[in-house]
Amino acid sequence: MNPNPHSPTRIHGLPRGLSARVLSLVGGPVQRRLARWSQLLDVILAQEPDLQRKSDAELRKISRSLQFRAKSGEKLSALMPEAYALVREAGRRTLKMRHFDVQLIGGMGLFHGCLAEMGTGEGKTLTATLPMYLHSLVGRGCHLATVNDYLAARDAEWMRPIYEVLGLTVGVIQTPDKSDQRRAAYACDVTYGTAKEFGFDFLRDRLLLRRMGQGQDDILGQASQQRLEGGGEQPVQRGAHFALVDEADSVLIDEARTPLIIGSMGDKAREQVVACYQWAAANCGRFIDEEHYSYDHDTKKIELTAPGRILARSLPRPEHLREVGLIDMYEYIERAIRVQRDYLLNRQYVIRDGEIVIVDEFTGRLAEGRKWRDGIHQAVEAKEGLEVTVPTGQAARITIQDLFLRYKHLCGMTGTAGNSGAEFRRLYKMQPIPVPTNRPPQRRYLPDGIYGSSSAKWAAIVDEVIEVYRTGRPILIGTRSIDKSMHLSNLLRDAGIPHQVLNANEIVKEAEIVAMAGLQGKVTVATNMAGRGTDIKLTPNVIELGGLHVICTELHDAARIDRQLAGRCGRQGDPGSVRQFLSLDDDIVLAGFGPKRADKLKDMGENAVGEFRRLGKMFRRAQRLVERRHFRDRMILLHYERQRKKMQIEMGQDPYLDSADN
Ligand SMILES: Nc1ncnc2c1ncn2[C@@H]1O[C@H](COP(=O)(O)OP(=O)(O)OP(=O)(O)O)[C@@H](O)[C@H]1O
Ligand SMILES: [Mg+2]
Repeated sequence: MNPNPHSPTRIHGLPRGLSARVLSLVGGPVQRRLARWSQLLDVILAQEPDLQRKSDAELRKISRSLQFRAKSGEKLSALMPEAYALVREAGRRTLKMRHFDVQLIGGMGLFHGCLAEMGTGEGKTLTATLPMYLHSLVGRGCHLATVNDYLAARDAEWMRPIYEVLGLTVGVIQTPDKSDQRRAAYACDVTYGTAKEFGFDFLRDRLLLRRMGQGQDDILGQASQQRLEGGGEQPVQRGAHFALVDEADSVLIDEARTPLIIGSMGDKAREQVVACYQWAAANCGRFIDEEHYSYDHDTKKIELTAPGRILARSLPRPEHLREVGLIDMYEYIERAIRVQRDYLLNRQYVIRDGEIVIVDEFTGRLAEGRKWRDGIHQAVEAKEGLEVTVPTGQAARITIQDLFLRYKHLCGMTGTAGNSGAEFRRLYKMQPIPVPTNRPPQRRYLPDGIYGSSSAKWAAIVDEVIEVYRTGRPILIGTRSIDKSMHLSNLLRDAGIPHQVLNANEIVKEAEIVAMAGLQGKVTVATNMAGRGTDIKLTPNVIELGGLHVICTELHDAARIDRQLAGRCGRQGDPGSVRQFLSLDDDIVLAGFGPKRADKLKDMGENAVGEFRRLGKMFRRAQRLVERRHFRDRMILLHYERQRKKMQIEMGQDPYLDSADN
């Protein structure tokens, strides 16, 4: 009898054996690679019965011999079949999860530096263990970068038994960690963390190294001590060898719009600058739209008109602001007006412990440590009456592109690469590889619910919740901001529907809330925080009832983000359904078409209920316009950063550190 009940498997959508060989001759380059890799599956399968009979200690011994062979120069690609068979056995043994064939294929793509496109819920967490293990063999550290602390910690702890049974150590970086903890985590064979933490650690190390180069005294100086968070005199990272980026579209595309920046300590002129922000915040309310200033809806730029400038000049100014130039004063006012209009509490930011914390537009999470540029952050602080933090002096910065291109080996995986394939190829030299699903997906997309106004939309959402709640199926409702999640929570409370809320204010309870979300009768209102990576486990009775129902309350700035939310249901061949709700006063309409067209559509829409089906397309068009604009922003940033870097290098300066006399 065959000891392996799984042999030989046939991959859904990908023929094996002879037909694979035919495919390898006639298919495109991607097909040819997939076909070539799928031929290795048999080699891996053949080792399985033998490995299954081995003890844990024997597995570790095999692992050690692989490490030895890798370190003595044997090519990792030659070791791949043995390594992957070993990791598969480790997964089966420790987690009762035996890597599916498609996951092995994904793992091969990752090893070869590709972008593995594997659908939501296909098991990318488990897939990642394959290339992480293989690259760790040479002993130079492997980083798995993801989007938030919760996923970094969850994945590291979840996969830890696999690594440990093979004799590897696992480290996790969490935002609050001190440098000693970080150094220990980076010293492990594999290290899980967020892309941001990997980036900030790189920059902090860089600053430290420069300080060290400047002499011992300086290292012990108070300023650098504080800047390095009391860190020791050693860098925390040990080079950039291999990085696997999970949720690659979010990390490498969406978040790449803003570089990572470390600001630094105070300055003598600080007080004056602070006073300017406060003065502008206190007075900007006197300026009237179209009379004192003009507002450009595309660029969000404010410009004072002639009467506006007169008003600004006539405002009483504290004594020590007299020497600040007029043009600067206008700018302070313009910025304060812009912040008053466009930066809203609990929408773009929250206040925590007296500090502004940005709410990431894409992930719905608090973007700890990130700051808006061009004085916006300080203007917001002044508006809220908080301490105004003025960054001056030395700072370090790096773009996401530069950060990840520094790694010798880079690969990524995501469920939603969407139409960003060319961007991945061009900016990161990553070839997207579509990996077939393990089982055909059973997610049902229900027709859109389109409404003339947001109040009608929210009412319809509550109705839908009530209806599905009666059947006992769990419901996940995604909202675009914290205040919208609170708004819906109030509506549900009024309707008598018990529910839990997951937003950036509830981050400590995140794991608990997610663990409950798949139980019968659970209703969970979430921001985009739950939009990526979260794996909502269903009980067998819930699967029988039809699985999780996902309600999307609005379109996001990129279709990929919507697909991520939808991907919380219908995972691993489970049943599930999704409905998108839309209303004509949704942000996306305004963002895509601008205020004039948005208003026109609204007038038309409110009278034309029957037309709504056709309008669904219009929403997607607005979304595509926003996507395109963001693409343009990214290209501009990239161009600008490239120029900057080139100049710094030409001047013999460190491209990631601002010059000391700046
Ligand atoms: N080989 C396997 N055997 C059994 N279960 C598996 C296997 N691979 C994955 N799973 C299960 O599939 C579910 C989804 O896994 P995971 O969260 O890693 O998916 P994902 O691809 O990362 O999804 P997302 O795109 O949403 O992040 C998990 O509950 C996991 O236990
Ligand atoms: Mg995942």
